[in-house]
Amino acid sequence: MEEQTDSTFIKNISIITVLLVVFTIVIIFLARDIGFKEEQGDGPGSVGLTQERIKPVGGAYTGEAGAAALEQAATQVTTEKAVAFDGSLDAEMIYKSVCAVCHTTGAAGAPQPGTLAMAERTAKGMDVLMQSALNGLNAMPARGGRSDLTDEQVQVAIEFMIK
Ligand code: HEC
Repeated sequence: MEEQTDSTFIKNISIITVLLVVFTIVIIFLARDIGFKEEQGDGPGSVGLTQERIKPVGGAYTGEAGAAALEQAATQVTTEKAVAFDGSLDAEMIYKSVCAVCHTTGAAGAPQPGTLAMAERTAKGMDVLMQSALNGLNAMPARGGRSDLTDEQVQVAIEFMIK
């Protein structure tokens, strides 16, 4: 009886040992396979990605390379600068969207179109009105608070409110 138990135990432990060895070999091959792929492709271990990550954030350029880089940066800035309403010169739309909030209500003493107060402003001449609208005047914010309005857009809005 005693011997019987021993041999069963040895049999079971052998099976478990063999299974563990097989399992270990499978794991080793799987790991090798994964590691290999990452080095070749664009996994976290790839050389290309590492170089991309450690490259300097801002480069200092001189001479011709510097001039070219500056020019490129400048065109990027100008093309990316947003213009209000996609540059539309629809005076009524600009007035209603930006200026009306004060000028139609007369808020903070803003001259209302069609009133004597506005006629007095109009008498100053377009040049003066443009300067006030572009730079601001007391409670009147520069460009009506929309710095992305172009000079031309401000001008058509003024023409709309004084006509
Ligand atoms: C936040 C309110 C506000 C907004 C928005 C606003 N204005 Fe005015 N505006 C005023 C006030 C207040 C005055 C009177 C300022 C004063 O004379 O002290 C004024 C005055 C003016 C004048 C007369 C300037 C002068 O020299 O007498 C013009 C022109 C004008 N605004 C144009 C515009 C235009 C165009 C817009 C839209 C693009 C606009 N405003 C948006 C408040 C506003």
